[in-house]
Amino acid sequence: MMVSASVDALILAGGLGTRMKSATPKVLHGILGHPMLWYVVQALSNISVHPIVVTPAQNDAFRAEFGDALTYVVQPEQHGSGHAVQCGMEAVTAEYVLIANGDNPFATEDDYRQLLEQGLANGADAAVLAARLDSPGQLGRILRKDGGAFVGVVEARDARPEQLDIQEVNTGIYLFRSTDLREWLTRLRPENAQGEYYITDCLSMAIREGKKVHCFTARSPWQMAGVNDRGELAAASDILQKRKFESLYRDGVTIDLPSTVRIDWDVTIGRDTEVRQGSCLKGSTSVGSLCVIGPNATLVNARVGDGATVVSSHVEDSVIGANSVVGPFSFLRPGTVMAEHSKVGAFCEIKASSLGAGSKVPHLSYIGDASIAENVNIGAGSITCNYDGFSHAKHRTVIEKNVFIGANNNLVAPVTVHEGAYTATGSTITHDVPADALAIARAVQVDKEGWVRRKKNGQ
Ligand code: UD1
Ligand code: CA
Repeated sequence: MMVSASVDALILAGGLGTRMKSATPKVLHGILGHPMLWYVVQALSNISVHPIVVTPAQNDAFRAEFGDALTYVVQPEQHGSGHAVQCGMEAVTAEYVLIANGDNPFATEDDYRQLLEQGLANGADAAVLAARLDSPGQLGRILRKDGGAFVGVVEARDARPEQLDIQEVNTGIYLFRSTDLREWLTRLRPENAQGEYYITDCLSMAIREGKKVHCFTARSPWQMAGVNDRGELAAASDILQKRKFESLYRDGVTIDLPSTVRIDWDVTIGRDTEVRQGSCLKGSTSVGSLCVIGPNATLVNARVGDGATVVSSHVEDSVIGANSVVGPFSFLRPGTVMAEHSKVGAFCEIKASSLGAGSKVPHLSYIGDASIAENVNIGAGSITCNYDGFSHAKHRTVIEKNVFIGANNNLVAPVTVHEGAYTATGSTITHDVPADALAIARAVQVDKEGWVRRKKNGQ
């Protein structure tokens, strides 16, 4: 069914989240690369309702994260979820308001759509979404008359012992007709264990007035309904991580030992790629198909082409071309761009440098601020000397195509090695090398005949 009524969404995020013991507002704590609140905003945006968020007075961090995507309303002091709604209603203009807790990243767009569609289809004046949980903990319990008609929500702290056995909980997701809600809000009283204004009291008020109030049980399975402390934050990450893995499996990705792997929400991975144990793919990372990532690879905002391999390496803000190889044990720092069929082998550090197709930095090198063209081989232990100890800007090294840099070279930048040139092992290259030349820049070997024998004889 299409949603035809006008609906605004109100996200409650004005609480201080004291149980997190943090300087960061609770709903801005990260889960798989996004603040918790982002998942709520995303789900609501996907069903095309405009999100209005209730924040504490200090909301710079919210604005920095979400910019103009949200309408912000401040709740100057924290007097409970009902008070947060009172504050938020000043920005609501639609006929209906869908209310969600900002500390609930689990609800999917299907859950919101379910409440909206069932609520409107049944002509409800108010509706609440419930879920069955194995361990309902401190959540509000759903009260039903003789197990049937919904009669209200009782907070765990206000509940009688036998009510705590109820496993059906309030998810903190509600639908109200705006005009009715405004009226009920004026009548809320903080008469409960926490001395707070509870939004849930509006539901029982509505029932007492003979309004149609429905409680729908979520069709999708729920394991948690909110994040209140660091333990629940970790559990939330696990739940969303599982969802992410399941979508990757459906796309044809293999994950070896998933309990050791972390993959952020926005990461994309192509078919037949294998992510091996101990790997961590973060931020906006994208990986092509037929790749092998890991074991123990960390990719942060990396772009990896088809058929590439990254083993036991750390890669940040870099591009790895198709069929290229990285590792084991290398560090690609921001601005590294490897073309196809290139290689950065063991124990190398590369920064702000490009490596052309088929080029190789196989062993123990530092390459910084260099442009390396195609089919170049950098000998073991060679480094670019890009920093003169004074100037802020680093000096560049340019290596043209088909160059062979011998082992253990120092390339003192700024310097260019022109096309097809060779440099001898152990050279310290301080000026440009002409095309096709052999540059030798090392001390000439001297053999002192009989020196050892004389030394041992004390001469
Ligand atoms: C609330 C519900 C509970 C439900 C649970 C689901 C009430 C009274 N109880 O409990 O029935 O099972 O959520 O997770 O609503 N907030 C404000 N301003 C405030 C206080 C809270 O904006 O003054 C916001 C919080 O930022 C949070 C949400 O409201 O996002 C819920 O508040 P919280 O204190 O976490 O409520 P719970 O005790 O978890
Ligand atoms: Ca909560």
